[in-house]
This record gives sequence, C-alpha cells and structure tokens, in this order.
Amino acid sequence: MVIDSLMAERGVTKIKLIFGFIVVLYTSITCIHAANSTLSANQTIRYNETIVSTQETFELGFFSPDNSTNHYVGIWYKKRSYRTVVWVANRNASLTHTSVGLTLTLQGILNIQDATTGNVPWSSVNSTRTSVRNPTGQLLDTGNFIIYDEGDQENPIWQSFDFPTDTLLSGMKFGRDLVTGFERRLTSWKSEEDPDSGEFSYRLDTRGYPQVIITDGPNITFRGGPWNGLRYSGYPNFGANPVYNFTFVINQREIYTNGRVKRFLWTDSKQEWNLYQAVEIDQCDQYALCGPFGRCNINGAPVCECLKGFEPTAPDQWRNADWSQGCRRTIPLDCGPAEGFNKYSNLKLPDTKASWYNQTMTLVDCEKMCKSNCSCTAYTNSNISGTGSGCLLWFGGLIDVRTFSENGDTLYIRMPASELGKSKQYFHFYLHRKHLHISIIYVLAQTR
Ligand SMILES: *[C@@H]1O[C@H](CO)[C@@H](O)[C@H](O)[C@H]1NC(C)=O
Ligand SMILES: *[C@@H]1O[C@H](CO)[C@@H](O)[C@H](O)[C@H]1NC(C)=O
Ligand SMILES: *[C@@H]1O[C@H](CO)[C@@H](O)[C@H](O)[C@H]1NC(C)=O
Ligand SMILES: *[C@@H]1O[C@H](CO)[C@@H](O)[C@H](O)[C@H]1NC(C)=O
Ligand SMILES: *[C@@H]1O[C@H](CO)[C@@H](O)[C@H](O)[C@H]1NC(C)=O
Ligand SMILES: *[C@@H]1O[C@H](CO)[C@@H](O)[C@H](O)[C@H]1NC(C)=O
Ligand SMILES: *[C@@H]1O[C@H](CO)[C@@H](O)[C@H](O)[C@H]1NC(C)=O
Ligand SMILES: *[C@@H]1O[C@H](CO)[C@@H](O)[C@H](O)[C@H]1NC(C)=O
Ligand SMILES: *[C@@H]1O[C@H](CO)[C@@H](O)[C@H](O)[C@H]1NC(C)=O
Repeated sequence: MVIDSLMAERGVTKIKLIFGFIVVLYTSITCIHAANSTLSANQTIRYNETIVSTQETFELGFFSPDNSTNHYVGIWYKKRSYRTVVWVANRNASLTHTSVGLTLTLQGILNIQDATTGNVPWSSVNSTRTSVRNPTGQLLDTGNFIIYDEGDQENPIWQSFDFPTDTLLSGMKFGRDLVTGFERRLTSWKSEEDPDSGEFSYRLDTRGYPQVIITDGPNITFRGGPWNGLRYSGYPNFGANPVYNFTFVINQREIYTNGRVKRFLWTDSKQEWNLYQAVEIDQCDQYALCGPFGRCNINGAPVCECLKGFEPTAPDQWRNADWSQGCRRTIPLDCGPAEGFNKYSNLKLPDTKASWYNQTMTLVDCEKMCKSNCSCTAYTNSNISGTGSGCLLWFGGLIDVRTFSENGDTLYIRMPASELGKSKQYFHFYLHRKHLHISIIYVLAQTR
C-alpha cells in the first residue's frame, strides 16, 4: 500500500524529526493488546489497550507525544514502524496520569474518564439523535472511528472524520456544511510535543466562490485559490492524483518559515517516506503581496508589477518595495458602452472572497453580466474542464494575483476602450542563479 502525503516541511531537519518523534513513541509503549476493531456500550479502553481496524491499518488508543508526559487519545497508522498520529480526541484537554479510560456510554457518547477522580476531561459532542438503543463504536480501515446504533453503520451518530485534527485522510470531508454552518478544517498542532490547536488553519473560505486558504490567527497567509474544475488555481502543477490517496498535514509555524510544501509517499515495503513532489512556496505566495491590481511575477525584479493599464497608487512606497497600496487605473473607467475586457493568461485567479458565481452560465453570458454591472472588474469560467463552463465575477480590487509560466488560469479584466486589444504574447527569458530558464509567458506587454 502506498499513502501519498502532503506536508508542510521545515526542510530536511523536519524529516529527521519525524523519524525521531516516531521511534521514541514506539519504544515508549511496550504492551499493545491488539483486540478487535469495535467498542461496545459500557466497554472501556484502558491506558495500555488499543483497538485496531479490521485490516490492521489504523489503531486507536492512548499515546504521549515525544518529549511530553501528557497523554492523549488518538488514532495512528498501525503498520508503520513508527507512529504517525492522524487524529487526536482530547487535543485540548491533556491527561497527566495513566489511570484513565475511554468508554462508550449506553447513550452512544464517547468519554475519556479519569478513574481516580471520576472527571470526564473530554467527551464526544452530543449527537442530534435523541434515543439510542444499542450503540457500537468501530475503528474503520479508513481511519474513521464511528459510533452507530443498532448495526446501522451507514448512518453513524458520531464520527471522528467530522472533527479533523491536522491530517486530511481520504474519505474525510473538508470544508463547511452550508446548511448547519458546521466547518471541518485542519488546525496545526501547537508544537511537536503539544497537539493542542496551534495558530495555523487550513480551511475552505466560503465567502464568495470557495477557495482554500491558510490562516495564521485572523490573517490569511496563503491562498491556494479556487478550484477550477481540475486543480486549485494557486497550485498549477499540483492536480488531483488518481493513483494514490493522500494525507495532507499542516504543521504549526512551518509553512512559511522555509517555504516548502512537499508531498511524500509512504512505501510499506521500504518502511519510509519518499519525496514525491515538491512545491516551492515562494515570495509570491505571500498573500496580497502586490496589493490590489498588482501581480506577482517570481521571475521579475522587483517581483511586483502593476497589471497592464494600471500604475502604482503610491509610487514612492512602490519604489521602496512596499507594494501594499497596489495599483490604480491609468485611465479611469466610465462604465460607457465601449468598455470591454482584456484577456490575461497563466494567472493565479484573484481572491474570490467578494466574488459571485453561477455554475451553469456560459462565458458569453458571463461577459454580458459583468459588463452590465459597473462595479464588476473581471470575469472568467468557474470550471475550465472540457470546453469551460460557469461564471465567476469579481467586484472592486483584484487581490493576490500572480503569474505562472504554465498551467495558470485565464482572466478577463475590464478596461476602458482605449486600452482594449493591447494583449500580446512574447517569449520570456531569464537567467536564474543556476540555470537558464526559457518559458513562454502569455501576458500583456508593459507600456512604459
Ligand atoms: C526532544 O528533546 C530533545 C532534547 O531537548 C531534542 O533534541 C529533540 O529534538 C526533541 N524532540 C522533539 C520531537 O521535539
Ligand atoms: C501497561 O502494561 C504493562 C505490561 O503489562 C504494565 O507493566 C504497566 O504497568 C501498564 N501500565 C499501565 C499504566 O497500566
Ligand atoms: C478548548 O476547551 C475549552 C473548554 O475546556 C473550550 O471552551 C474551547 O472551545 C476548546 N477549544 C478548542 C479549540 O477546541
Ligand atoms: C448533551 O445533551 C444534554 C441533553 O440535551 C445536555 O444536558 C448536555 O449539556 C449536553 N452536553 C454537551 C456536552 O453538549
Ligand atoms: C495580522 O495582521 C496584522 C496587520 O498586518 C498584524 O498587525 C498582526 O500582527 C497579524 N496577526 C498575526 C497573528 O500574524
Ligand atoms: C483509496 O481510497 C479508496 C476509497 O476511498 C479505497 O478503495 C482504496 O483502497 C484506497 N487506496 C489506497 C492505496 O489506500
Ligand atoms: C445560473 O444561470 C442560469 C442560466 O443563465 C440560470 O437559469 C440560473 O437561474 C442561474 N442560477 C443562479 C443561482 O443564479
Ligand atoms: C452589481 O453587483 C453587486 C455585487 O454583486 C451588486 O451588489 C449590485 O447590486 C450589482 N448592481 C447591479 C446594477 O446589478
Ligand atoms: C466541470 O466541467 C466538467 C466537464 O464539463 C464536468 O464534468 C464537471 O462536473 C464540472 N464540475 C463542476 C464542479 O461543475
């Protein structure tokens, strides 16, 4: 079996850390009573005991992170030579001693109970189900722990997949339930020793057209961009993988410090992680670096440029590499009938938090709709798969745009009549520190 894992890494040191982390954990737990995969009502898993999924893929029980004397209930890969924790129940309520148990109550609630004090430091949230007759808990080979009533596994009353920690496993839903408002997001561990919620979250921003974002506290630090039917707009070379199921982990304070997102494959035969694909997170991935109507070009010097037809809003700041004010139109729009749109290719689509969309409209109708609304600044297909479909509209400033050398998205930006049709294609050469890079970039020529 091969598991494909995508992790934010602190370079090579982190890989070593993973190994160190796991090895210590493995040796710290000597006695494992691998029983069955289920937990019946009133049954308790004690500190030294675990349950294991049918095909022995996952194991559930108590564990302590390396360098920590605290105990947690978690789920980890059973077959690994070291422990990779994928879920933590009481990340927020650590246990300081080992006279503890995990019990499924007759009401179908999972409780961590302190045997000495009788306290319940952690409990699964109440289900909406009012009357439970005969609950069972089961650890599945997907890594999901479900609680179901009277054998009805298809409709669990509670499941760990609804409460992700920092790991996205295949089959897990990620995002927001728009009906109940319930959100499933990944939140990093506070540190290697502490699984409590850290500052970084990986989540789906559902204001406007949905887009994946990474937040650091209240601030967006990275925007993966909207799903364009094939891939996230901000990961041009990182499409869905049909061969491997993947695990996406984010770690606290590590995504931007060294700027690499790596994708690892776990090979059972070799018992090791192998680097499968690496995505460089570069300066242009810093959210909104170039301000409204600016675009980031990692091959440019400086990296920020104004989109064609725009000029720096604050030229002095701009020259000093403070691009936060972004750009403004050289010639203002008047919303007259001669206005139109210029086509920009190979872009990361702008922030969609103030966008509007309709998934069935055609591109022609999309243009009409944008043109008929004076505050609409850009449009494109929401789905580029096949011949393209759907309509995505932006209003006001276009934020967090960057250019890619390939696999970027197309955007149509509103322009005054005098600026129309100035688009052209040209070759782009640059000498990298180590190698000569030649690519074709489809951008508008700069008028200087
Ligand atoms: C555990 O502590 C030791 C000594 O301070 C340190 O070398 C090691 O990196 C720590 N391990 C983790 C996973 O933080
Ligand atoms: C765990 O099991 C081992 C071996 O049976 C035993 O020595 C140890 O005391 C147990 N620890 C706890 C906390 O129950
Ligand atoms: C942590 O636990 C406290 C109560 O013990 C709760 O109020 C809080 O919402 C929890 N935080 C998270 C992030 O789960
Ligand atoms: C669970 O539901 C019961 C009855 O509705 C309520 O009294 C209790 O406070 C709830 N517990 C939690 C943790 O929400
Ligand atoms: C969020 O951004 C504001 C403004 O840039 C900054 O002052 C604040 O420190 C940031 N907060 C975090 C947690 O980075
Ligand atoms: C991937 O997931 C599918 C169903 O979600 C499962 O049938 C398949 O066995 C998984 N593949 C691997 C390699 O785990
Ligand atoms: C989307 O556009 C189609 C075709 O123009 C229209 O029939 C439909 O009502 C629109 N849906 C929404 C939610 O606006
Ligand atoms: C233009 O679009 C904005 C944002 O969706 C909306 O609030 C406004 O009512 C629209 N104006 C017209 C004239 O349709
Ligand atoms: C995108 O378009 C393709 C091809 O027309 C279609 O199969 C797919 O369902 C569409 N995706 C969405 C999310 O509408």
